[in-house]
Amino acid sequence: MLGKFLFLQTILLWLSGIYATSFDFDSACDNITSQAASIANTTIFFSEVVPAGTNLSFDNPTCDATGVASFQVTLADMCRVALSVSTSDQSGIAMEAWLPRNWTGRFLSTGNGGLGGCIQYADMAYGAGLGFATVGANNGHNGSSGQPFFDHPEVLADYVFRSVHTNVLVGEEITKMFYGSPHRFSYYFGCSTGGRQGFKSVQDFPDDFDGVLVGSPGLNYNNLMSYFGRYFNILGTPDSPSFITADQWSNLIHENVLKQCDAIDGVADGIIEDPSLCDYKPEELICIPGSNSSDCLTATQAAAVRQVFSPMYDLRGNLMFPKLRPGGEDTVYVELIFTGGTPVSFTSDWFHYVVFDPSFDVTKLDLADYQHAEDLNPFNIATFKGDLSAFRSRNGKVMVYHGQADILGSPVETELYYNHVARTMGLPPTKMDDFMRFFRISGMSHCVTGDGAWQFGQNLLAVGGNLTAENLNPDRNALTALVRWVEEGIAPDTLLGTKYVNDTPELGVEFSRRHCRYPLRNTYDRTGDSTVPESWSCQ
Ligand SMILES: *[C@@H]1O[C@H](CO)[C@@H](O)[C@H](O)[C@H]1NC(C)=O
Ligand SMILES: *[C@@H]1O[C@H](CO)[C@@H](O)[C@H](O)[C@H]1NC(C)=O
Ligand SMILES: *[C@@H]1O[C@H](CO)[C@@H](O)[C@H](O)[C@H]1NC(C)=O
Ligand SMILES: *[C@@H]1O[C@H](CO)[C@@H](O)[C@H](O)[C@H]1NC(C)=O
Ligand SMILES: *[C@@H]1O[C@H](CO)[C@@H](O)[C@H](O)[C@H]1NC(C)=O
Ligand SMILES: *[C@@H]1O[C@H](CO)[C@@H](O)[C@H](O)[C@H]1NC(C)=O
Ligand SMILES: *[C@@H]1O[C@H](CO)[C@@H](O)[C@H](O)[C@H]1NC(C)=O
Repeated sequence: MLGKFLFLQTILLWLSGIYATSFDFDSACDNITSQAASIANTTIFFSEVVPAGTNLSFDNPTCDATGVASFQVTLADMCRVALSVSTSDQSGIAMEAWLPRNWTGRFLSTGNGGLGGCIQYADMAYGAGLGFATVGANNGHNGSSGQPFFDHPEVLADYVFRSVHTNVLVGEEITKMFYGSPHRFSYYFGCSTGGRQGFKSVQDFPDDFDGVLVGSPGLNYNNLMSYFGRYFNILGTPDSPSFITADQWSNLIHENVLKQCDAIDGVADGIIEDPSLCDYKPEELICIPGSNSSDCLTATQAAAVRQVFSPMYDLRGNLMFPKLRPGGEDTVYVELIFTGGTPVSFTSDWFHYVVFDPSFDVTKLDLADYQHAEDLNPFNIATFKGDLSAFRSRNGKVMVYHGQADILGSPVETELYYNHVARTMGLPPTKMDDFMRFFRISGMSHCVTGDGAWQFGQNLLAVGGNLTAENLNPDRNALTALVRWVEEGIAPDTLLGTKYVNDTPELGVEFSRRHCRYPLRNTYDRTGDSTVPESWSCQ
């Protein structure tokens, strides 16, 4: 009797699965506007069927100005739903749900970047293209400025934790209404601020996701803002004796870093495989009598470089933020954080609109101010909780990657966090491997690009915008690898990255490399062809 009942249940489940894929998609997309309006605190703007290959444009001048793309070509037939959700009487998020016709039963939430502030449509297109019901939100405000935080703690709360969580709760409900059945698995991916947001969920909303893929996470956030401010303290304005030009960073200093450290791994290929082994000595560049002053640094400048690559301590002598790794001195971030001649906008906005007020002179920031900011830690934006046992015990999986040539967010900070979790939970790396794996990506800058094998499916750019079976193979795609880990229990031991000639797939593969999970180190066998992964192993 029981057996027959279970059999019927199975048939019914199977039939409901068929229904979900053959239902009247267009009519459901019309209906969702009125259906979703019943969700508490929501206002639905519109829903529309959008065919694959549509070039959507987004009329949002505040976001366009931030460099978030103002258009996006869709990669799947989908129902696009746009809405807002109020999160308090003085705050709310703008969000979208992209519900693909070919739904896999999976839900996916995307994150944001910097102090933003804008839906990352490329991430949405990637998720929907892979068959996820995908949601994205504007993090509680539009644009890249921190100005909306001023005197509005509720808007700040959205930025720190509530936007993603609200996006998930509402997005999952819309998904269920639309397809007529709830999702089977829930995922997240994001980088930088998106990385911090992912860890915020893992730490404080462990039920939100089964799998989380995060890159270059902005952890220890208060001190990260101060660490950016410290570059101005060290380097100053262009007329300061310690100032170093972009040209000096990317040619003189970067070349000197490579001269000292590139061959440590056994291959002089422009990539320092493990920069933790590089003890860079900028004093080698100090001018000696007779040297050409454009090929050397003053002693003051060399001391400044040394300081840039050193950790930051507070007034009590405690570590605030770890050192940078050498190797990224030739990237675009040099001009953002080193040579602007003023504190970077992240820092000035943070101190103007959150820590102090707009009249504060950010060129005067000092250690006491940084200490004050750390103590303030609004809504625990530090995002540094070491106890992930709730996430672990619900069988959640988190994959972290960090470019080793990232000078915007130090990869050392991610190592510190990994070690902090391991120590807090009392777990050796083999046990950490059960739920958290951290991949160090040699030669990669912040989230994407760089001289290393940086394309491993971490976002749409990293598959060249091309959803071929090869690009989606979980052996070389971090997002589908996460799905495989969650759903089939096959954990990724390495991430296989590709470097295309001039970053152009049509021009062919320059080299590929398997990136190891921490604390293993990628080690060259010193005889084979260094451009193929087989000549390297994780040790
Ligand atoms: C949409 O709503 C109409 C009117 O309520 C209903 O007849 C139709 O079955 C609905 N379609 C779907 C797919 O739910
Ligand atoms: C999409 O439209 C924008 C203008 O809104 C245009 O600049 C862009 O080239 C278009 N992209 C494609 C692939 O057609
Ligand atoms: C949906 O999936 C089927 C089978 O995998 C595929 O043939 C079809 O092209 C997909 N359609 C869209 C719009 O993505
Ligand atoms: C709706 O928003 C209010 C705050 O504006 C909040 O107190 C309430 O819990 C929200 N309701 C739901 C169901 O989320
Ligand atoms: C933010 O942008 C959304 C569209 O993404 C728009 O609906 C909303 O009105 C904007 N909010 C503000 C405060 O401008
Ligand atoms: C100094 O180096 C620069 C750039 O490498 C070069 O253009 C210039 O001619 C050199 N000056 C002397 C005196 O060698
Ligand atoms: C996508 O990849 C396929 C197969 O490698 C290739 O033929 C096609 O040109 C690529 N499309 C784009 C837009 O890069």
